[in-house]
Amino acid sequence: MWPKTRWETGSDHPLLKSDLDLLCAPDGTSALTVVPAPMAPSPELWTLAAHVAPALAPLPRRAPESVAAGVTAGPARAARPDPAQHWLGTAAGIRYPVLAGIPLLLSGYAHDAAGPLGVTAGSSRRELDHYSAVSLRLAADVADDQTLAGLRALATVAERSGTLLDETWVDAPYDGPAQLRCYEFLRPMVRGGTAVQIGGSGTHALKFLLAGAARAVIVSPVVGELLLADAFARALGLADRLLPVAGTGEHLPLAAGSVDVLYCGGTLHHLDTARAGRQFARVLTAGGRFAAAEPWKVPLLHAAGTRLLGKPEPVDCQPIDAARLGALRGAFGGRVDDHRHGAFTRYPALALGRAGLRLPARTLLRVMLREDALELPGSALGSSLSLTGCQAPSPLAAEVGLPHARATAGRAADSTETAGDLPAVSVSGERGQR
Ligand SMILES: C[S@@+](CC[C@H](N)C(=O)[O-])C[C@H]1O[C@@H](n2cnc3c(N)ncnc32)[C@H](O)[C@@H]1O
Repeated sequence: MWPKTRWETGSDHPLLKSDLDLLCAPDGTSALTVVPAPMAPSPELWTLAAHVAPALAPLPRRAPESVAAGVTAGPARAARPDPAQHWLGTAAGIRYPVLAGIPLLLSGYAHDAAGPLGVTAGSSRRELDHYSAVSLRLAADVADDQTLAGLRALATVAERSGTLLDETWVDAPYDGPAQLRCYEFLRPMVRGGTAVQIGGSGTHALKFLLAGAARAVIVSPVVGELLLADAFARALGLADRLLPVAGTGEHLPLAAGSVDVLYCGGTLHHLDTARAGRQFARVLTAGGRFAAAEPWKVPLLHAAGTRLLGKPEPVDCQPIDAARLGALRGAFGGRVDDHRHGAFTRYPALALGRAGLRLPARTLLRVMLREDALELPGSALGSSLSLTGCQAPSPLAAEVGLPHARATAGRAADSTETAGDLPAVSVSGERGQR
């Protein structure tokens, strides 16, 4: 058995119903319902099932041996049990698997009734493999995990003091002031709202739940990260309110006007910012907010820093620069404010960290906040960036008094706006090997 999830209880389950209302296909427009499995699930799905099986070991689940055996030496594919628990499908007949409770709303997993459509997803394999390996290792045993311990401490803070999303809640080691500015901007929208984290292993989504969000979604293309998020959520008793979804920020599988709060913690710079900006505008409610704490590409300094210190991870991302920020602004359509942080402190702290001299996180945050407060000349050269954006309130919502404008007019406008962004998923698309 895979871990028991809301998806197992059938389509009349209230949580499943509300999850389905929140989700959509990666085209950004097509609603999803539970549909029968295709005749032949894609080989990649079997591979993924085998890959994630060890991370599910501490949980009740289907025996990993049987999954692994199915991949390497199993009987003919048609005779194997389906690795997915459920399938979600669009009215046009495109189907996506739900694996280990996680809807895989990535174009690479799109099927029709017969089998995989063979669409390639376009993400960097090297990058996905790196984050997958790291997160699966952590997901296999979260009991003594430091991040989980930190989240537990915040649960107590939230319960006892009610001070939410302040300095205590900041965890970015070198981007603390940027994260704090983002959290403070998002805070008024969190309580009772729907909060989404783009990329990563769900710690921000979980914090938004601890801070009073009604439900949260973590969208990442890395299934291991989603399993890790789910493991944290289970340990914290928040699993019923956290929905882990495999998807990308450029093809957000979330319904138009469904999100109050959206946060990228060091992930926006991995994305095509123009596509992401259009998606943020589409999914946010009227008055909904997004924020991102990201590295900023300081001309010359970044190149020199990378040459001197190397890249911290074996991935190909680049910090945000003026062109990518402009693309985000243009695509979002609303107001996007940016601030730089850490001009004089971030690179030195990074260099010390690489040399094994890590300042205590709280001390570094204080020092960097002090630098922010001084507003020194040259502080615009800071290599840490905070971005905040707000979706314009819809006049229609004000007219009818809707707190959240999940308005039909908004949906219609959005669906034409995103048309240029559609991943190449179509029934007539080129097929992969069956
Ligand atoms: C440097 S890590 C940031 C980790 C993060 N701070 C966390 O909370 O775990 C970069 C992240 O970018 C995310 N990412 C990469 N490409 C993405 C995409 N197209 N859409 C959404 N997230 C993406 C991955 O999930 C990865 O975790």
